[in-house]
Amino acid sequence: MSSFRNQRWLDERPKKSGGVIAMNIAVVIGTRPQFIKLAPFIKEAKTRFNLDVIDTGQHYDDAMSGQFFRELAIPKPRYSLKVGSGGHAQQTGQMLIKLERILNHKDHDMVVVFGDTNSTLAGALTAAKLQIPIAHVEAGARSFDRTMPEEINRVVTDVLADICFASTERCVRNLLNEGKRLDQIFMVGDIMIDSLECDQKDRAAGSPLKEYHYSLLTLHRPSNVDSKERLERIFDVLRVANVPMVFPVHPRTRDRMKQFSIDPPPNVKLIQPVNHFQMLHMIRHADKVITDSGGVQKEAYLLSKPCITVRNTTEWMETVDAGWNVLVDGDPVKFLESILNFTPPKEHPPVLGGPGASSRICSILDSWAADHLGAKR
Ligand code: UD1
Repeated sequence: MSSFRNQRWLDERPKKSGGVIAMNIAVVIGTRPQFIKLAPFIKEAKTRFNLDVIDTGQHYDDAMSGQFFRELAIPKPRYSLKVGSGGHAQQTGQMLIKLERILNHKDHDMVVVFGDTNSTLAGALTAAKLQIPIAHVEAGARSFDRTMPEEINRVVTDVLADICFASTERCVRNLLNEGKRLDQIFMVGDIMIDSLECDQKDRAAGSPLKEYHYSLLTLHRPSNVDSKERLERIFDVLRVANVPMVFPVHPRTRDRMKQFSIDPPPNVKLIQPVNHFQMLHMIRHADKVITDSGGVQKEAYLLSKPCITVRNTTEWMETVDAGWNVLVDGDPVKFLESILNFTPPKEHPPVLGGPGASSRICSILDSWAADHLGAKR
């Protein structure tokens, strides 16, 4: 950040007690997984920093957005950009234009982004162009598959980030291999562990699911749901497996099923997208989890559930190496065999770290502020 920005704004800045200057942070979010990660961050950060939450509106259905704010008790975002759906360029471009208008006229010391969505990329790119420092939570995760839009988003965001908050040692190694400096990388553990800790409620939630044996299914990756043949092949395997499954269906998948006129087999019970408490509750009580989501793979691991990932790569190889996650992309025999027989080992090492990522992140941001916001602190 230029010293001009500092000098111009520091005097007008609200002070913490004792005259210390509180850092102004813009947090850019926009999708369901980001609302989940935002909740523990806000809990920790709200007393330490001046926060402006900017919601790009990438997810806008109440089931994908509003209900998460209510259930996770996240304060209403200061800015809602209402960008909505569209092609990658259109969606990201709209975000850039609208974010620039806000960030250009506000006095932010840092922009914080989470994960790997188009909202992450837009937040980082706008901040970089305006020379506002960037902190990336969940940095360094790599599938090494550049056909995934998320991989592009992660790589670019990490190139631009001034501070990379990595979940695991593997993430740290990935960042170092890509030339990130060691002093820019902080291994803090995975913030989704804190999201889980926030969710005491789901433990109390009673549900008939407890008495019902089922596998939990989620599918939303373009590589799985945007091709009719591919989606049909997946449903064929599920039909042959013939075990009960519950499938909270993502709007993208719902739209594609309608467009292709295909339905899941009768053993798969389709339901509306659920809130985070319900999702955790459903994972907790499932026999297995079948998914193509990065976040759900982690939640399955954290809740000690065997996970079958319908992809040929994952950014969370730690869970595969631990023996609790299996990749079955394009191999119907392995897919079927896993649904019927996959059993993980007894050992369940804490490969994603322990709780406390949000608190570690905030302490590091506090030190950064002490170093960079100058003599007034
Ligand atoms: C996005 C992220 C993905 C993340 C996922 C979580 C990118 C590139 N992808 O994928 O990394 O895992 O969110 O869910 O950022 N739609 C609705 N209502 C909504 C949101 C989406 O109907 O509230 C439908 C629209 O048809 C839209 C489609 O879902 O075109 C895809 O939405 P989009 O935000 O582009 O990507 P996701 O598939 O949700």
